[in-house]
Amino acid sequence: MEGTQEGPTTANQSVGAETIVAWIGARISSSCGITVSQEDTHKLSLLIHNRMAALSVNDPIRYFQLVESRSAAGVAEWEHLLSRLTNGETFFFRDSGQIALLRDHILPELIGRRNATKTLRVWSAGCSTGEETYSLAMLVDQLLPDRHDWDISILGTDINVRALHHAQRGQYGQWAFRKIDPVLQQRYFTQTASQWILEDSIREMVMFRPCNLVTATFDSSVLGIDAFDLILCRNVFLYFHTDAICHVMKKIASALVRDGYFLTGHGELPPQTVGDLQAKIYPESVIYQLPQTAGAVASGSGW
Ligand SMILES: C[S@@+](CC[C@H](N)C(=O)[O-])C[C@H]1O[C@@H](n2cnc3c(N)ncnc32)[C@H](O)[C@@H]1O
Repeated sequence: MEGTQEGPTTANQSVGAETIVAWIGARISSSCGITVSQEDTHKLSLLIHNRMAALSVNDPIRYFQLVESRSAAGVAEWEHLLSRLTNGETFFFRDSGQIALLRDHILPELIGRRNATKTLRVWSAGCSTGEETYSLAMLVDQLLPDRHDWDISILGTDINVRALHHAQRGQYGQWAFRKIDPVLQQRYFTQTASQWILEDSIREMVMFRPCNLVTATFDSSVLGIDAFDLILCRNVFLYFHTDAICHVMKKIASALVRDGYFLTGHGELPPQTVGDLQAKIYPESVIYQLPQTAGAVASGSGW
């Protein structure tokens, strides 16, 4: 960040609301990877205006200091801003081609490969309210009748803590099912007056954790982010700038086992961000694989 985007140099400096919007926009871009467009800046400006009124904060710099602080109120405020600026659109079995690719090729291959150890590790990165993560769990359930004899880890992570709370509840309105086969919906969910409730046996297959893909260190000790057979990160990079995609992709590659697969949305990866991963082209979608012979891949969050 440069110039006015650097943030205040003295606590009592008098700055206008526009400058604060620019500082917070720059902070969102650098720490979350998100491209803050002109439209986002306008949205952010309105949002900050409303939040300052709601919190009875008159001085823009005081609001900035709150957002920057590591106090509980500051963290909550930061999360509030992020949850309103990020797009959390998602639904079950969202991309039928990629779902078919996973169901007919990738998961059967991984299951065959892991049959001796009976372990399978899958990560849905940027999972929003959990529909993608649970779709993966339902696919595994259908493909592995003896799944109770397996050690299966299915992790869903997102930067948006509110979305993760929703995910954990496993309760969804009808709109989340706009692409699902109704037979599967009936099989795995119970309908109440206003919601569909996911059955416990699928909910319990999945674990949700907060994780900022840009700043988190992917390792086994902190978040269990390590040695995945399959990683999905779909409809997340659409909103990222290329440097952030490059940075996150290096870490994603480091969190895959050799021969592990990475699936992203169609056209989401600029070619220069693919690194050691090799594209495998199926009629349904491209999927990336970490080859056996890949060089040492960078990890960590220093960028
Ligand atoms: C459009 S949703 C995609 C949900 C799901 N993957 C799908 O394709 O249906 C994008 C998600 O990415 C999350 N996200 C954005 N920036 C992130 C970051 N830096 N780290 C982790 N998650 C992030 C947002 O909070 C949002 O929930």
